[in-house]
Amino acid sequence: MSCAKNFHSVSVIHSTLPQFSKQKSSSNLNFNPKLGYNKSSALSYSAITVDPVVTAPNDKYISSRSINIEPTVKSDMVALIDQAEEKSATTGKFGAFGGVFVPETLVSSLSKLAAEFNLILHDRDFQGELQVALRDYVGRETPLYYAKRLSDYYKGKGNGQGPEIYLKREDLNHGGAHKINNAIAQAMIAQRMGRTSIVAATGAGQHGVATAAACAKLGLECTVFVGNVDMARQPHNVLLMKHLGAEVKSVKGMFKDATSEAIRNWVCDLDRGYLLAGAAVGPHPLPSMVREFQAVIGKETRRQAMEKWGGKPDAVVACVGSGSNALGIFHEFVRDEDVRLIGVEAAGSGIESGRHSATLAKGDVGVYHGAMSYLLQDDQGQIIAPHSVGVGLEYPAVSPELSFLKDIGRAEFHSVTDEEALDAYALLCKTEGIFPALEAAHAVAYLEKLCPTLAVDGAKVVVNCSGRGDKDAGAVMEYLMKK
Ligand SMILES: Cc1ncc(COP(=O)(O)O)c(C=O)c1O
Repeated sequence: MSCAKNFHSVSVIHSTLPQFSKQKSSSNLNFNPKLGYNKSSALSYSAITVDPVVTAPNDKYISSRSINIEPTVKSDMVALIDQAEEKSATTGKFGAFGGVFVPETLVSSLSKLAAEFNLILHDRDFQGELQVALRDYVGRETPLYYAKRLSDYYKGKGNGQGPEIYLKREDLNHGGAHKINNAIAQAMIAQRMGRTSIVAATGAGQHGVATAAACAKLGLECTVFVGNVDMARQPHNVLLMKHLGAEVKSVKGMFKDATSEAIRNWVCDLDRGYLLAGAAVGPHPLPSMVREFQAVIGKETRRQAMEKWGGKPDAVVACVGSGSNALGIFHEFVRDEDVRLIGVEAAGSGIESGRHSATLAKGDVGVYHGAMSYLLQDDQGQIIAPHSVGVGLEYPAVSPELSFLKDIGRAEFHSVTDEEALDAYALLCKTEGIFPALEAAHAVAYLEKLCPTLAVDGAKVVVNCSGRGDKDAGAVMEYLMKK
């Protein structure tokens, strides 16, 4: 396959397809008949048993699909989720979303990757090595931290009543974000497949740093594509990637443009190359792989919640860019309908301003970078550039799985503005001595709206603190000085 031919094909993936595939939004379709809604009750897998995540090599691997079965009446919602998950394992489709919208020339590479992914899910040696890497290299498990002063702050606003707020400290991972959970696992897969040249795209730089670190550890070549706009905004992470041995290539534009360039580069080197996706988007199996490797966040959270208060969280809150950290913490609880799953998108300059990254709130269904999902697009199906002060939230599409969870009504999605996120960064610094990434600060900011609405005093709310905010300290200072 000549590179030129592939280049042509890839340009089809991300420029032409959205035009042809734009559909009317199905945003209000709760229980869409097309998704195979089945009213009958059945047995379910709702009682999920979680073993310790960090175990010695060859101990039992806990895949998000390896769940202990306790018969119970399955609700319509859980039946839908089960159906979607079963279908997605082979087709990559979550209801109408996902899929493999790529030129035929790439199908066999993606099929090989899907086959390898299915193999490693049940390979005890691979899983043993991954557990050790997660424990000794990444630093898992991450704490579930009781944010007492932040909880008191909201109790103060609520006449002494309010939730107990916990932070899942993904910011304490090696590299400072959740991205390494997936990067290390996929780098191991690449090595197993004999791929020596890893390509990645990054926006905020956290996935770039994670990938560069994983490649250095495993002795793999690493090239990271970064938009020139983002390079200027996140210079600290660009430096780190270079120190970690990655070649950093500047691309005109932002994260979406860097992603297109990484795909083009990978297509030119299918035998040696491996596209290491950090976002839960793209053609199957990429979103499922990313979700699988991030699901460790939710598994730990369930066990830690049980240890700390003997139950489940009442609500789990996460920011949504592509959806990898949100799915990472949601997935474990998706069948627990008593746990609210709350995704927070970036409203940027305001949800009605046209300058935001609120894809699930404002997008229509379409195809981008090889998969169907909600998408920020104009009436002709052309991409609308996203905006957020949280650089890692700037992506015009979103995870197919989150798109599905939105449509069946299992997860709720809200948005907060740049200013609200910047204020939340400052609040968490002052109340807890924790500086969140501005992406994660969007999830923290939503507490302002959520806390007054919670009916139960002492409700347990877990916020996924997806990353640390050293990279954003300058932007926050600039904002505070102007305020
Ligand atoms: C710390 C952090 N949180 C969240 C995100 C958003 O990505 P996702 O929605 O895939 O978790 C990013 C992306 O770079 C990030 O760096």
